[in-house]
Amino acid sequence: MTTTIELMRAHRSIRKFTQEAITPEQLSAIMAAAQSASSSSFLQASSVIRITDTALRQQVMALCGNQDYVGSAAEFWVFCADFHRHLQWVPDAKTGFAEQLLIGAIDTALMGQNALTAAESLGLGGVFIGAVRNEPVALCELLSLPKGVIPLFGLCLGHPDQHPEPKPRLPASMMFMENGYWQVHSDAGMKEYDEQVRHYYQTRTGGKKDTSWTGQIGETLAREARPFMFEFLQRQGFCLK
Ligand SMILES: Cc1cc2nc3c(=O)[nH]c(=O)nc-3n(C[C@H](O)[C@H](O)[C@H](O)COP(=O)(O)O)c2cc1C
Repeated sequence: MTTTIELMRAHRSIRKFTQEAITPEQLSAIMAAAQSASSSSFLQASSVIRITDTALRQQVMALCGNQDYVGSAAEFWVFCADFHRHLQWVPDAKTGFAEQLLIGAIDTALMGQNALTAAESLGLGGVFIGAVRNEPVALCELLSLPKGVIPLFGLCLGHPDQHPEPKPRLPASMMFMENGYWQVHSDAGMKEYDEQVRHYYQTRTGGKKDTSWTGQIGETLAREARPFMFEFLQRQGFCLK
């Protein structure tokens, strides 16, 4: 075990922060770590927007389902897939392909995870915010995101004011396979995992939340999320072909 692995295994999302600011040195270190992530074809197809203006932060928070930590975290960053930059420097570049959506999403996700891990290594905490995609057209207008840019997720960062237990993950045997797709179907294994997740939520919420993993995914996947997404992607010049 290395200290890096220990750090990664200790990850838990933080949703409550103290008032303490993040120093400029810490910010630079987190940004450098984020930028050091690998990049598909070295396209570096990402941009990150720091929301430092207090009034703007409140507006962004409102567009993110009013999740209060979006407003109270020391930092809130919006991670975007970005092909606008490429078109500026190479106007003849061919864009709009579905593959480029994947490239932008993967590059940006790798940057985001690097940023959070770097922050955690500094004793900070954070949580990703997919809710930046709740009202994407309004967010694009608020942040002046041009065509070729889409907000993928936000990241709250700050000094933790809570210490939740790590959330139990699926058994590794269900997620890691060898030489092909061999899904381990174990009713007993899933029952045990469901109980672990139920126990986690009960402990975290003082008994208020009584949900298993299969119960939770059943609720999440009962309906289409963000049904406007395909139209939005095309509006921004993604997924046209
Ligand atoms: C892309 C992405 C979007 C997320 N969006 C939200 C969000 O909008 N609000 C929130 O409270 N947590 C959000 N999360 C955090 C997840 O709920 C959390 O990572 C997951 O439940 C596992 O818990 P852990 O991070 O504490 O291990 C998001 C995570 C990811 C990766």
